[in-house]
Amino acid sequence: MIVKFLSVTSILLVNYVVKTSVSSPSLKQVDRSLHVRSLPPINGIQSNIYEVYMEPYGFELGPILASAVIRPNGGNLSGGKQDAANVGIKVKGELLLRQTHPPHGPVQIVGNITGLPPGLHGFHVHQFGDIREGCTSCGEHFNPFMVPHAGKNDPIRHVGDLGNILADAEGKAEVNVMDSYLTLKHGPRSIIGRAIVIHELADDLGRGHTAQSVQSGSSGKRLACGIIAHVN
Ligand code: CU
Ligand code: ZN
Repeated sequence: MIVKFLSVTSILLVNYVVKTSVSSPSLKQVDRSLHVRSLPPINGIQSNIYEVYMEPYGFELGPILASAVIRPNGGNLSGGKQDAANVGIKVKGELLLRQTHPPHGPVQIVGNITGLPPGLHGFHVHQFGDIREGCTSCGEHFNPFMVPHAGKNDPIRHVGDLGNILADAEGKAEVNVMDSYLTLKHGPRSIIGRAIVIHELADDLGRGHTAQSVQSGSSGKRLACGIIAHVN
């Protein structure tokens, strides 16, 4: 079996499948697919990353479902420092996360959020599923590869960068995000046990020409958050 690694520079991710077969005197020959997922190199920071999976070992073949219940302070009624400025704003909702073809297939996030000020709001996965001090203790944007902040469709971004959601005049945002960089399976890009955070302001997608912009998109305070947890 020969696995040829492709050089990838212009696109974010490549998935491909190599057919391989295993045989031994005691086992009859079995064909297995080897899934190879490639992440591009970043000049001066890291070389290409390859993730290799062989089915059926190492990952479930069925969909993975998770949910995040979004509440001010993450639902923690006693904690919260930064969030105290959001008194009177009652943001809430539930998000369902589904990865139909783990570990390399896209993750879809759907659900409704209500109680938002109308307009765009930064929408990210933050590093920690910790709400002991409200959404403040969720840490910064989930950024396992230590790169600058950007938008969801940029080639180099935090794994947690999902751009903005748009709230209408009634304060309701219909979330329907599809993203191929996240996974609900284990590994460095897994967002299970981390937190979804909704911000006060629009995320400038790293284009604000300030230090805050390239760190977090200048999207202001954290209106609400919820921990991403398995539901199957
Ligand atoms: Cu955020
Ligand atoms: Zn970010």
